Amino acid sequence: MLICFGLMIVLVAVVASGCPPRGAQPTPVPGDGQQREDIDISALVGQWVDSNHANILLLPAQRDGCVVCHDGGAFAEQLTEQAAIERDFFISIDCRACHTGRGQELMEAGTVSIPTAENVQAGTGALCFACHNERRAPNIADENRSAPHFSSQAGVYTATGGIRVEGFDYGSTTAHAQVENTCVRCHMTEGNQDFASHTFQVDNVAAACGQCHENIQTVNLTAKNDYDGDGETKGFQEEVAGLLDLLEEAILAELDGGSIELGGGQIQFKDTSGEIVQVEDEVYLAAYNHTLVSQDGSLGVHNPMFVVQLLQQSYKALTGEDVPGAEIR
Ligand code: HEC
Ligand code: HEC
Ligand code: HEC
Ligand code: HEC
Ligand code: HEC
Repeated sequence: MLICFGLMIVLVAVVASGCPPRGAQPTPVPGDGQQREDIDISALVGQWVDSNHANILLLPAQRDGCVVCHDGGAFAEQLTEQAAIERDFFISIDCRACHTGRGQELMEAGTVSIPTAENVQAGTGALCFACHNERRAPNIADENRSAPHFSSQAGVYTATGGIRVEGFDYGSTTAHAQVENTCVRCHMTEGNQDFASHTFQVDNVAAACGQCHENIQTVNLTAKNDYDGDGETKGFQEEVAGLLDLLEEAILAELDGGSIELGGGQIQFKDTSGEIVQVEDEVYLAAYNHTLVSQDGSLGVHNPMFVVQLLQQSYKALTGEDVPGAEIR
């Protein structure tokens, strides 16, 4: 396997330097140790180059504690401190991050622990879970009013994230949460070319969703019901966007015209003059769950049932009533 990867890095270097590839260099396939000769490796590398994994923010790659997810080389070796890194430049989330060291181990193990759940069976997607999680489990009594990290996907997807209200039994769309290879199943399909897509986007809806949702044309699949109570049953992502708007209005109403902002890993609640104020637990609960769902980036698709319930119950905890006119899940 290591030998395969040595070969691949040579091959990538050849492609990147613009030299003609030498004859029939076989392309190694990560994971199974076999080699495929039919992959258009420069097309694969080109997809990665255009992705955000190749275009990282430098600031978090320069900090202890952050570098392990924000620098691909540090992730492969699981280095959490700058001082342990023997180079003076940064490495994006590159081939080595995912295909050597820790990344390779995770794909082979298929099991991963995240702050909100231990030993999740995630197939090759275990790799994605290791970085795309909210970094710490939530706690309603947290006086710092910590925010979930920008990468809240794993907690939403597994329905283990978020702050819950007592006495409500939250569900999960298990058909989504248990797809083979989890994140990789939808984000790296072979739909548009004959290799696993390295755009990391859901770039072929039929390949990602068509097996279960016949004739699906867009990820914004028509919802089963009117979840935000605006009198119309629209695309599911629009229903979730509607719920996010309602919840934000309800949070701002509690602040009498103030605002909420993210800063220093916290959710900051401010009054009209911009001063930070203390809020009741229900306001924090609602703001935490609002942030979790917004930052996840899928507008509920990762776990439709859980997300609708989380937002509807947050609204109820804050206002004392169900979302008016909505179908309550
Ligand atoms: C080593 C950590 C790491 C791993 C492993 C990782 N990612 Fe990422 N990912 C990141 C970071 C960091 C960013 C944001 C880059 C930036 O903007 O600085 C990102 C960005 C993304 C984006 C773009 C998000 C946007 O807002 O544009 C997608 C989609 C994504 N990752 C999916 C995946 C998938 C799917 C996997 C597993 C195959 C994966 N990632 C594995 C760290 C990782
Ligand atoms: C567990 C892995 C992990 C750790 C540790 C981590 N991050 Fe991140 N961070 C991510 C991922 C993954 C993303 C991309 C999320 C997305 O785009 O959906 C991200 C996104 C960000 C963004 C937003 C980037 C953008 O494109 O807008 C900032 C800012 C950031 N992180 C700062 C930090 C800082 C500062 C620290 C340390 C205090 C830190 N991160 C630690 C995984 C991590
Ligand atoms: C059932 C298919 C499916 C699975 C499984 C899945 N996703 Fe997604 N993901 C989506 C869809 C659909 C979107 C929304 C894309 C859009 O609106 O264009 C999305 C959005 C995202 C985004 C935001 C993309 C952006 O450009 O802003 C990130 C990051 C992401 N997913 C990461 C993950 C991670 C990490 C996992 C595993 C924990 C995962 N996804 C599992 C379907 C899936
Ligand atoms: C964010 C993680 C990530 C990054 C970065 C990444 N890959 Fe991958 N790659 C994967 C995953 C996941 C698979 C699918 C593995 C599987 O199912 O066995 C894969 C599959 C592959 C395959 C096999 C494709 C197929 O369909 O058989 C090749 C070749 C490959 N990657 C090369 C590269 C190269 C070269 C780079 C750097 C330009 C790279 N990868 C960057 C995660 C990543
Ligand atoms: C393995 C099968 C499977 C795959 C793949 C799959 N889904 Fe689903 N999806 C389901 C099932 C089953 C449900 C639950 C239906 C229910 O709630 O009764 C569901 C529910 C949904 C819902 C919620 C509808 C509502 O109003 O409650 C949306 C939206 C959705 N899926 C979109 C997608 C998208 C977009 C993709 C691809 C990115 C996808 N699904 C991939 C099986 C799947």
